[in-house]
Amino acid sequence: MVIMTHKIAVIPGDGIGIEVINEGVKVLNCVSQLDPKIQFEFTHFPWGCEFYSKTGRMMDDDGIERLSKFDGIFLGAVGYPGVPDHISLWGLLLRIRKSFDQYVNVRPVKLLKGAPCPLKEKSPKDINMIFIRENSEGEYAGSGSWLYRDKPNEVVIQDGVFSRVGCERIIRYAFELARTEKKSLTSISKGNALNYSMVFWDQIFQQLSQEYPDVETHSYLVDAAAMLMITKPERFEIVVTSNLFGDILTDLGAAIAGGMGLAAGANLNPEGNFPSMFEPIHGSAPDIAGKQLANPLATVWSASQLLEFFGYKEWAARLIDAIEYLLVEQKTLTPDLGGTAKTADVGDAVVAYLQKHFA
Ligand SMILES: NC(=O)c1ccc[n+]([C@@H]2O[C@H](COP(=O)([O-])OP(=O)(O)OC[C@H]3O[C@@H](n4cnc5c(N)ncnc54)[C@H](O)[C@@H]3O)[C@@H](O)[C@H]2O)c1
Repeated sequence: MVIMTHKIAVIPGDGIGIEVINEGVKVLNCVSQLDPKIQFEFTHFPWGCEFYSKTGRMMDDDGIERLSKFDGIFLGAVGYPGVPDHISLWGLLLRIRKSFDQYVNVRPVKLLKGAPCPLKEKSPKDINMIFIRENSEGEYAGSGSWLYRDKPNEVVIQDGVFSRVGCERIIRYAFELARTEKKSLTSISKGNALNYSMVFWDQIFQQLSQEYPDVETHSYLVDAAAMLMITKPERFEIVVTSNLFGDILTDLGAAIAGGMGLAAGANLNPEGNFPSMFEPIHGSAPDIAGKQLANPLATVWSASQLLEFFGYKEWAARLIDAIEYLLVEQKTLTPDLGGTAKTADVGDAVVAYLQKHFA
């Protein structure tokens, strides 16, 4: 038996990040126990806002170098009252994404059976998309200037940075995924108003589509896409879009696919030159932190994405089956899904399901 040991850096972060990540690690340890070929070596890092309040830094100075030795990163959530959000975001999360060129953000928007959906006429067969969000540049490139600060003629400029390499690689990734999955690919942009960046994006999408004649393509303006995600979500299968549009639309996606407690995201460096990072997309939820009220299922879903990235498709699917089982059963759910279970109870129930069906 060939045993694969994957070295995973665990960054619980702040607030409910600490509670949900415990459950994610619990579930991955259960997979190792049931399938001893798959082993994980977890190393915890105490970085986040509490670390910042003690040290003035969100992570150690050599943090990126230390993380670079790992095969993957499993992150809870970052941000807490008392530390400005742009500091916590740029000091840890975005620093990791950018340093490790995690240019693909994969966000499933899939309504599982039993999950709440505010769209009355829609069911799981209608909401089954994978968003591929550009994750390294675009509107979140961090480029701009702040001139004449605090003067009456104060001016701020926030640039969107769209490089040919950056656009081509994310759009190509989406085409490859659409081809493998035999699904249509929709590009979402805003070429009518953003007359440089999004015209360029549309042009590259059009150019690459010539190389993938087997993939059915669609292009929508972001405003129309936001409406269609509500009225006709079944139109979308694989979706590729920019950093900002992807950020907003995937929260909309979370809202129609069970809520923030079920939304996961993977930040990939597909070439494997650097570690990829897996995380629930929700924040640290200070309003419920430390009370075992947080739903850990988004984190379990991101553990599933981690397993898929390392090539364990079967186990990845089993974790999603476990989540769906709990949703349909409606017995062990946290308050956001109408239940009374504690965070750890939900993690235990996922483990119990896996042990029962795959031991
Ligand atoms: N990826 C990240 O680390 C990330 C993402 C978003 C926000 N943040 C940070 O988190 C902090 C709080 O931000 P926010 O309140 O805008 O967003 P949030 O996602 O933390 O919370 C929004 C609402 O959703 C609820 N919620 C979120 N996750 C939940 C879960 N797993 N189970 C049950 N309920 C859940 C919260 O209780 C809250 O009412 C801020 O500092 C923000 O910058 C971090």
